[in-house]
Amino acid sequence: MNDAIEFSSTVSAMTRGGILVVTIDNAPVNATSADVRSGLEKALVHAEATADVAGVVITGAGKTFIGGADIREFGKPAIEPTLPAVIEKIEKLSKPVVAALNGAALGGGLEVALACHYRVASSTAQVGLPEVKLGIVPGAGGTQRLPRLIGIPAALDLIISGRSAKTDEALSLGIIDEIAKADLVETAISAAQKLSGKQLRRTGELSIATNEAAEIERAAARILGRARGQKAPAEAVRLITSSNRPLAEGLADERATFLTLRDSREAAALRYVFFAERESSRVEGLEGIEPRPVKTIGICGLGLMGSGIAVAALAAGYTVIGLDQTVEIAEKGRECIVGLLERNLASGRLDQDGFEAQKARLSVTASDADLAPCDLVIEAVFDDLDIKIDLFLRLDKVIRPDAVLATNTSYLNPDEIAAATAYPERVLGMHFFSPAHVMRLLEIVRCARTAPDVLATGLAVAKTFKKLPVVTGVTEGFIGNRIFSAYRREAEFLLEDGALPHEIDAALEDYGFPMGLFAVYDMAGLEIAWARRKRQAAARDPATRYVGIADTLCEMGRFGQKAGRGWYAYPDGKRTIDPDVTAIIETARAQKGITPRAFPKSEIQERMLKAMAAEGEALLAEGIAARPSDIDLVMINGYGFPAHKGGPMFART
Ligand code: 3HC
Repeated sequence: MNDAIEFSSTVSAMTRGGILVVTIDNAPVNATSADVRSGLEKALVHAEATADVAGVVITGAGKTFIGGADIREFGKPAIEPTLPAVIEKIEKLSKPVVAALNGAALGGGLEVALACHYRVASSTAQVGLPEVKLGIVPGAGGTQRLPRLIGIPAALDLIISGRSAKTDEALSLGIIDEIAKADLVETAISAAQKLSGKQLRRTGELSIATNEAAEIERAAARILGRARGQKAPAEAVRLITSSNRPLAEGLADERATFLTLRDSREAAALRYVFFAERESSRVEGLEGIEPRPVKTIGICGLGLMGSGIAVAALAAGYTVIGLDQTVEIAEKGRECIVGLLERNLASGRLDQDGFEAQKARLSVTASDADLAPCDLVIEAVFDDLDIKIDLFLRLDKVIRPDAVLATNTSYLNPDEIAAATAYPERVLGMHFFSPAHVMRLLEIVRCARTAPDVLATGLAVAKTFKKLPVVTGVTEGFIGNRIFSAYRREAEFLLEDGALPHEIDAALEDYGFPMGLFAVYDMAGLEIAWARRKRQAAARDPATRYVGIADTLCEMGRFGQKAGRGWYAYPDGKRTIDPDVTAIIETARAQKGITPRAFPKSEIQERMLKAMAAEGEALLAEGIAARPSDIDLVMINGYGFPAHKGGPMFART
């Protein structure tokens, strides 16, 4: 051991057993910023030139190996050395370079590791090339070296999904060579010592298997079919499937593609979404506020929503007590929850031990008193104010005064529920999206009297549920459903003005929505919204424009797919334009004296976006949403707005 050498302010090294152990320390995630690249380059030059150094180990400080290129540098003037240049130096070094993956090796981080001659990982490490999620392709050799290491089909899967692989999978795929059983860096040092003086395995020199053409073609077609107009996945497919060519040629193509995509609108949108997700949990007034401790969660109402919430809570490690009206109904709820856990077991998302452990943490009851140990109770009962108030009054009597109460209402006013309780400051809204164990979005509703630590508790619990929490103030429908209403209203105006449902849906699907609005309606069923419209009818201002076409469909029993007809017809289950619906729309137009006109796709898209953005502006002005990016996250994660367009607020810029 000798003194540390500082190669830059973020890269330092010690020589141990003749091996230069280089540590990258660039909090928070050891991104390969300019200072890291220059430090690494200097370390490599030093290793090559120093006779006493027999090899190099590269590792990261903290819990990440390297989180990738520094995304904050994108869009700024390039600073030498570039990452590909540093990576080339690693691969070409005459002495062995071993990557010691102490944590996540993502994007440029994995590309650094791929160029090393051997890769050792700690059991908690993970590897991945998530660039396509940022609207780019790997830009430092990922599309060329990964196929050389693991074959084109496996590389396609990893790069296009952008997912991370844990160490067991990384080892079986051949991305890493060893999982350290003892100290990671010691293991890496001894690997470097063993490789010293031997023929080095350089990933860039490996040849690619060529007998997988049919599999590759199938995988590429599947991927492109799902790309919804995004450029990055298509370019990644092209680069990976053509990687069987001289390395330098492939790398040059990859770099040029990376640079073009990096400056695209799609990449700017996805980068914006990346930072928006991290920004959303920074909430004004919560700085330094500790959440209340939560170990046991009560869930009232074990229907589909309550069951989904229970599954998310069990997966996060909580003890769950489910409450429903009778022992029989509660038992049905338990069966539903266990059924969902069984599905996770069957799909491999849960192993047998995990399944047993989660089941053991679940109990159900029909007695309020059994909720006494709960630190948080989430209600997911029927969306009716009297029912919810009655439940909360009962809960007031049995749970501790410091336990938190959350309502999962989508349209009711949670302030009215809170006001009826003994401790309104402990009440907040947690608006889950269905299915609650799958959908990432969770609107956290800050009521007029919600205490800061109660709000912080909602956010902290949401994070443990692996949800994306977005804080909203109280308004009818909160952020998401309010914008959705504006979106729906505009679509109905368009219907009256001359567009047909399939034209509007085609414009939306072309924009990147997975499904058009009217197709979604048919899938979800039209009757719930109809019932709400009927409830609201008396309060409606007769001077505001109201489109009654949906009501006419409902009056005819056209409730959507389940009924075999709605906005479309479904002969043999296939969505088909229905001339009867066209006639209904034409009659409605005629009754109002509207002369229909044709709408090009672009105009439909523009009007829908404008309507959403205008409602978003109103939410900001009213203080319901804290920032435009929160609105965009809600629309992307709850309503199918394409992430690569950044959300309605980003898209208007
Ligand atoms: N560049 C710049 N900042 C980054 C970053 C990156 N690559 N990755 C994370 N950060 C920042 C986040 O914005 C956040 O900043 P904040 O505290 O100011 O909000 C901070 O690091 C911590 O991030 P997380 O909250 O996400 O921390 P976690 O511990 O939950 O997760 C992680 C760590 C798994 C590394 C996660 O941050 C992540 O997935 N990062 C992005 C990885 C990625 O996409 N890499 C590819 C980059 S593009 C590339 O490498 C191109 C190459 O091919 C040339």
